[in-house]
Amino acid sequence: CLSPALLGLYDVKDYVVVIIDIFRATSSICYGIDNGAEAIIPVAEVEECLAYKEFNPDYLLAAERNGEVVEGFDFGNSPFSYTTEKVSGKTVVLTTTNGTQALHLSRAAKKVAIGSFLNLTPLCNWLKSLNEDILLVCAGWKNNFNLEDTLFAGAVAEQLKDFDYKMDDPAIAANDLFQLGKNDIAQYLKKTSHSERLKKLGIEADIAFCLQTDITTAIPVLTDEKLVRLR
Ligand code: MLT
Repeated sequence: CLSPALLGLYDVKDYVVVIIDIFRATSSICYGIDNGAEAIIPVAEVEECLAYKEFNPDYLLAAERNGEVVEGFDFGNSPFSYTTEKVSGKTVVLTTTNGTQALHLSRAAKKVAIGSFLNLTPLCNWLKSLNEDILLVCAGWKNNFNLEDTLFAGAVAEQLKDFDYKMDDPAIAANDLFQLGKNDIAQYLKKTSHSERLKKLGIEADIAFCLQTDITTAIPVLTDEKLVRLR
């Protein structure tokens, strides 16, 4: 599913869904859960996120809109805010421009997991073990297609394609894009609009961080509306 706008074409309850928002929501979620966050609660709206403080004053509240931390929140969506020191043993409530919206729209799926370059191979190995139909949901940008999420979907397809999966045309296109960029993904993704956006905000370091492959092993999965480490 190359954009959340196309999710209506799929009956998500028939699929194991993988949410993809490479810059930066799903990369930060993978990093935070790998670093021992007890849970990350994804919410669609800023107000909803704020309301959790009343519910439990120990929760950390994280909100990002258009790449920036929303005023009044503990932090936003930078992976550097999800280190062991900051999140270990904590519950984070998170809202982002696109990633948590895609999650919200997919919550009725058979299972929802979180994918990023950080956990690419552990994620694919787990998917291979399931023998289920898989829907890779690219969060994109404001309901539109983006290159980085699609290229990552192609990287997942690459690992699954020798494993007897039948790919549909969007998956084939994503995999073709991965072939175009795979020799230097960082260089290829320099042309993306979100890289430009993050560069303008002076946070290029986040881009490089999110393109590291297999530096984490956790697979965050949605359980009772919370993202937790798959055990
Ligand atoms: C999002 O969910 O829209 C993104 O992760 C945006 C970002 O924080 O870079």
